[in-house]
Amino acid sequence: MNSTFADVYPVGMSIFDPIDLGIDEYGQPVTLDLVYRNLLAGGEPGGGKSGLLNLITAHTALSTDTRLVLFDGKLVELGQWEDSADEFVGPDITHALAVLRRLQQVMNNRYAWLRNRKRRKVTAGDGMDIITAIIDEIAYYSATVGTKQEQDEFVALLRDLVARGRAAGIPVVAATQRPSFDIIPTSLRDLFGYRAAFRCTTPNSSNIVLGHGWAEQGHNAADIPPTNQGEALLLAEGGFPRRIKVAYLDDGQITNIAAHAARLRAGTTGRAA
Ligand SMILES: Nc1ncnc2c1ncn2[C@@H]1O[C@H](COP(=O)(O)OP(=O)(O)OP(=O)(O)O)[C@@H](O)[C@H]1O
Ligand SMILES: [Mg+2]
Repeated sequence: MNSTFADVYPVGMSIFDPIDLGIDEYGQPVTLDLVYRNLLAGGEPGGGKSGLLNLITAHTALSTDTRLVLFDGKLVELGQWEDSADEFVGPDITHALAVLRRLQQVMNNRYAWLRNRKRRKVTAGDGMDIITAIIDEIAYYSATVGTKQEQDEFVALLRDLVARGRAAGIPVVAATQRPSFDIIPTSLRDLFGYRAAFRCTTPNSSNIVLGHGWAEQGHNAADIPPTNQGEALLLAEGGFPRRIKVAYLDDGQITNIAAHAARLRAGTTGRAA
């Protein structure tokens, strides 16, 4: 008898497990510890940002100790994960703001809970799900749809979530194809502990993703060949940027994993099955 995907794919993954991202330039595996951190992916169109977000979403969707909140202005980038998500926000700024306000409320509640117990962060044994928020892409909500006032509120709420969400167990993964100061102010960029620069057009835009001065030190995402999608410079808090190649899930693989994840999560997302 042929085994089904559900038979061969490991169940019961955890968001606290290292997330497999791919390999570095020496062929060594590269992993990401997402809980208590945030990740920003930047780079020009077609560089591989959504590929990375899908990979992280796959691990997240298969982890039964996290809830998923997805923002996808294009609908098609993360759309396959909709059934695994507690919220799936499409190109609708009103919906995006409502969901961010609600996340802010959950975060505030969790901080009050922690303060009562003289604690500083949510841990795996607290019985609270990690809530992973994934945004593809920031500029869509901060600069494209909605009024200036709504866009500003989006950025303010996102900044608060990225700044305070970590200890409350709400990591944020976000992508932007426009790594410019108006989309990602330095003060927001610096709150992301992980930054992944996919191919950029200039050393300056590479620096906007990774941080000032890295291009001059030889860590420049403008030297990534346009033909090598999925190559990125990954910077983790306090380290040096590491040149990586992100593992790629094609549409068929995503369809299979998403179906399996949706089955695992059936009845838990508050969405219709
Ligand atoms: N890690 C990878 N390995 C191999 N090919 C990849 C990888 N990531 C992306 N690609 C290829 O590059 C194409 C574009 O990638 P992706 O959609 O992730 O780019 P993007 O940075 O999100 O672009 P945009 O800014 O337009 O949304 C994919 O359709 C795929 O063919
Ligand atoms: Mg994309």
